[in-house]
Amino acid sequence: MAEYLVCSEEEIADGGRKVVACGDKEIGIFRVKGALHAWHNLCPHRQGPICQGRIYPQVVEPVDGNREVRTLRYNEENMHVACPWHGWEFDIETGRNAIGRYRLHRADLSIREGQVYVVL
Ligand code: FES
Repeated sequence: MAEYLVCSEEEIADGGRKVVACGDKEIGIFRVKGALHAWHNLCPHRQGPICQGRIYPQVVEPVDGNREVRTLRYNEENMHVACPWHGWEFDIETGRNAIGRYRLHRADLSIREGQVYVVL
């Protein structure tokens, strides 16, 4: 097991991220609702750089009384990252994609004295 010092805790603002090299691996560290989450930078679809994708709230398509979707809304409680290669989306807190069948691979974090470490 190896531990990598990646940054200070305050370097990643809420809603932000940092992608770092840890040995021969890349890890994306995100902050959502104050908590840090770390994921390997490999999309489960075709190994694209998922952690470098666009971050945005979950898209919700409300169905009206005629069973039609006429507008899109955003659920600010669930932040997603979309893979830059083919657009698969993943919940940043759980690592699950929209249909729950695929997941990102979590990396362990350790925070000591304001410093963030990735443990692989
Ligand atoms: S590699 Fe990520 S969506 Fe295809």
